[in-house]
Amino acid sequence: MKDFSGKIAFITGGASGAGLGQAKLFAKEGMKIVIADVRQDALDCAVQEIIEYGAAKDDVLAIKVDLTDRAAYTAAADKTEQVFGGPPHLLIQTAGVNAFGPAEASTFDDYDWVMGVCLNAVINGLVIFVPRMIKAYAGKTSCHVAVTSSMGAFRGGATTAPYSAAKAAVNSLMYSYYEALKPYGFGATAVCPANIRSNIGEAEKLRPANLKNTGYNVSEKTMGVLNAIHAHGMDPLVLAGWLKEAIENDQVICMPYDNNQEIMRGHAEYIFNLSSPEGMKRNEALDKEREKQREEMMKLAPQEDVGFAKARSDLDWVDPARKF
Ligand code: NAI
Repeated sequence: MKDFSGKIAFITGGASGAGLGQAKLFAKEGMKIVIADVRQDALDCAVQEIIEYGAAKDDVLAIKVDLTDRAAYTAAADKTEQVFGGPPHLLIQTAGVNAFGPAEASTFDDYDWVMGVCLNAVINGLVIFVPRMIKAYAGKTSCHVAVTSSMGAFRGGATTAPYSAAKAAVNSLMYSYYEALKPYGFGATAVCPANIRSNIGEAEKLRPANLKNTGYNVSEKTMGVLNAIHAHGMDPLVLAGWLKEAIENDQVICMPYDNNQEIMRGHAEYIFNLSSPEGMKRNEALDKEREKQREEMMKLAPQEDVGFAKARSDLDWVDPARKF
């Protein structure tokens, strides 16, 4: 997809962070923008920001929706068609949440919440929108589906199990949809950043009441650690620029860094190494390198040990070094 002007973009998580950056950038390209998010206050502020950035008031539609609710997501799709006269040409599913702690401490609620937003809601969007997009636009004009994935998609870590699993799955979905949608002239992209300047550090505040039983140590202080790390992340507008270029080039993966080929080769090598005894030894060295990078990242956060990414203290099967 290379032509954006006059077309419709539906951006989930568009009230904040990466999604808001995408909304601004594609508004500037002359698109009609729908931002779908669960937070009304953030939606209201985001609409103002997008208009101040140059969008016409009538070209921005904000919809409050919990994207894990299929009926509500379908209603948001209907509303988009009512207001803008058709389904989106560009679907960018960016809404996401995170939660970190030892894999062995993870509860059903941790999996259901993180994978519910980061994976199941993405599936909802694809099932709801793709048939509408094909019916409306196949053979007439180009369209694209994209998802904001993560660098974590390529490699699960000890404290990122639900998040990495969800992101690996959405990458896989984009590989599938890329192949499936090619005959219709549509593309598919997963953008895989490491760190974005955003509000995701506050995500725990969005955890629904029925999914509160986390196995992780979560507090205002652990959220403070995340906020400090994400304050140093990539500017959402810069990230949106990388995504736009990848959409124009019909790339399935967008690794939004200048040394993206080197990064991707590193991931490929690590995965290759997992399949032989010699490779497992080689990965020990790569693991040490990764641990150094993690330590560097943690220097961005408050130095006091607040038990970030550790387990709840009462989980008696978890290694004490991994509990708080
Ligand atoms: P953010 O918190 O600023 O934006 C995420 C938005 O998703 C929020 O506005 C939130 O209200 C919305 N949301 C959460 N649950 C929802 C639900 N059930 N229904 C509707 N909306 C919901 O965070 P950020 O960082 O901009 O996140 C965007 C995406 O980027 C996420 O998928 C995240 O996993 C991904 N990502 C973020 C990284 C980072 O360093 N911040 C790094 C790599 C990927």
